[in-house]
Amino acid sequence: MAVDTIPVEILSEEQAKAELQRLSAEIAHHDALYHGKDEPEISDADYDALKRRNDAIEAQFPQLVRTDSPSQRVGAAPAGIFAQVVHARPMLSLDNTFSDEDVQDFVSSVYRFLGQLPDSSIAFTAEPKIDGLSMSLRYENRRLVTAATRGDGTTGENVTANILTIKEIPTELPADAPDVVEVRGEVYMAKSDFLALNAQMEAEGKQAYVNPRNTASGSLRQLDPKVTASRNLRFFAYAWGEMSRMPAETQWEMVQVFGRWGFPINPLTERLSSVEAILEHYRAIGLNRPDLDYDIDGVVYKVDRLDLQARLGFRSRSPRWATAHKFPAEQAFTTVEAIDIQVGRTGALTPVARLTPITVGGVVVTNATLHNEDYIKGIGNSGDRIRPEEHDIRIGDTVIVQRAGDVIPQVLDVVLEKRTADAGPYLFPKTCPVCDSHAVREKNEKTGKLDSVTRCTGGFVCRAQAVEHIKHFVSRNAYDIEGLGTKQVDFFFESDDPALMIRTAPDIFTLKARQERSLTKLENIEGFGRVSVRKLFEAIDARREIALNRFIFALGIRHVGETTAKLLARSYGSYAAFADAMQAAAPKFGEAWNELNSIEGIGEVVAASIVEFFKEPRNLEVVERLLGEVRPLDAEAPVVSDSPVAGKTVVFTGSLERFTRDEAKARAEGLGAKVAGSVSKKTDYLVAGPGAGSKLDKAREVGVQVMTEDEWLALIGG
Ligand code: IVH
Repeated sequence: MAVDTIPVEILSEEQAKAELQRLSAEIAHHDALYHGKDEPEISDADYDALKRRNDAIEAQFPQLVRTDSPSQRVGAAPAGIFAQVVHARPMLSLDNTFSDEDVQDFVSSVYRFLGQLPDSSIAFTAEPKIDGLSMSLRYENRRLVTAATRGDGTTGENVTANILTIKEIPTELPADAPDVVEVRGEVYMAKSDFLALNAQMEAEGKQAYVNPRNTASGSLRQLDPKVTASRNLRFFAYAWGEMSRMPAETQWEMVQVFGRWGFPINPLTERLSSVEAILEHYRAIGLNRPDLDYDIDGVVYKVDRLDLQARLGFRSRSPRWATAHKFPAEQAFTTVEAIDIQVGRTGALTPVARLTPITVGGVVVTNATLHNEDYIKGIGNSGDRIRPEEHDIRIGDTVIVQRAGDVIPQVLDVVLEKRTADAGPYLFPKTCPVCDSHAVREKNEKTGKLDSVTRCTGGFVCRAQAVEHIKHFVSRNAYDIEGLGTKQVDFFFESDDPALMIRTAPDIFTLKARQERSLTKLENIEGFGRVSVRKLFEAIDARREIALNRFIFALGIRHVGETTAKLLARSYGSYAAFADAMQAAAPKFGEAWNELNSIEGIGEVVAASIVEFFKEPRNLEVVERLLGEVRPLDAEAPVVSDSPVAGKTVVFTGSLERFTRDEAKARAEGLGAKVAGSVSKKTDYLVAGPGAGSKLDKAREVGVQVMTEDEWLALIGG
């Protein structure tokens, strides 16, 4: 008997779960047809039967009620209510390039990585960068089953019901399409539709929307497909995720195939081989930009051949085979009303200009970063002048503000003619505005120059540093605790009630227990309802086990970003091994210190900063308390478990002939090996090419297996 005909009373839990999943998708599909597009496919009676079956199963198995269940779908609702979708392949972002030289560098780097002379033999596609929201559309057996937003790149939100209302997106693929297809592209709102919508809002006396992108995003991330349908969103296909079979061998062909399957593809895309031709196309698209009915913010270049894309591979967040060439930022004039100082997690004092609100490229700007004391004076990071001396930034000045994409707006220059007599030079504070500790500019040991950043020396006594630390801890790429945003962290941090306060990260995990023992109930406090409190505690509990790299990143060690945290997690495997090694490395010499420095991608400054972190008793105490509450999971074994070099440490030395050094490294890492920069006892293989010197000697001395490039290739299977 097929599961969908088994009477509810005799369904097993497993079958019920599968049924609820099926019903949720099925009902969403019919909802969308009914609300949005053309003709319904089934009668009202059949539709009601589906809903009743869903309700009956949920009544029998209340623990299985899905967040995206039709029973939970009631009109518009706040964000965070969509079911999560783990992408079969991560959705990455693109590196940005801004100038012609950057583009030349990108193209050269592709040739260099592949070990070829830059002879214009490699073709690139050049396609407009649509300013919308990226979307992954999954088809199984040629039927659309899930539409998911990008989210953090790994996990997105299931917005299938809303996507089904977009007329331009096919719900079925032709018979020759593979069984599993994930088409990726951009959902956007046409400028003309946006203007019409705003005209209508105005006529109704309602507030206008800010820009097409945000409006498109808002239209998708709400629960009523009718609203999405009324917004007339559109789509361009330009990429893909999982494919059970590849229908083409180049980027260009892939997109053409999508076009044949019924997806809109962008007509301004071209396939070009020389940097000159690429730049010419970029300028042509730039000239065309005002006449297009959709916003674009640059041109994306991609290596056309997919086999070359595969060889080039990825950096941590973006492909090596593509880049986004952004259009110049937009600028506007306004005045500086005040200069405030913000104190960051590491104590850095950042001056922020409060501006008379001004629209720059469609977005209202009220703040701009002034970076540091030198920037205000017109001096750049390298110590050189970036503006004439009298062009220092003062309160009351008229300034040129620039905004590029999502980057924080900047103050570019001062209009001297408009400076008033009472505007005196800005005096950068000598003490922290939050804790009053001395603020200093450290001397860079290597260059002997003053660091451009002024830092509060208050450390743990500085409330600003402490609260920023917690914000970092819960942020998206660290602990990612939903329901603990900036506002909530400020509230818990400021509270003096023992049942509410969060002063250090471990306090987050004792909050629930403290609440249970106390009479102050969070749910009675404005801004926290019963449901949101329950969800918050669930979100916190869900993080009691966490990936080691996130744990390390969350510690907020200076200079340890996400990439470094991943390297550390992979190299040491477990938190205990990592912490022990950092204690052992404390004297900054010896085996443990050398090992830390031999990790490719970790330099001396970073290594020293990590070791210093583990020397500070206050840090150790906080980590200790944290470990009483949470468990960092051991780093996952490399995914490629059948690779002969998974988990092995390899060092490349001498000149390689079959690969460039970068490609050899990327290949090895792709197979789960660690690539180190120097030989130690932990090295498994030294791959030595002609001209190998001291590393080869060292390997022989400590008994590391030495092989030629060909032997290495044979080992990894060519
Ligand atoms: S390719 C792995 N092509 O830009 C590469 N992205 O900054 C995946 N975007 O998240 C992206 N137009 O939302 C690609 N023609 C285009 C694009 C495009 C717009 C967006 C996309 C992506 C972001 C990256």
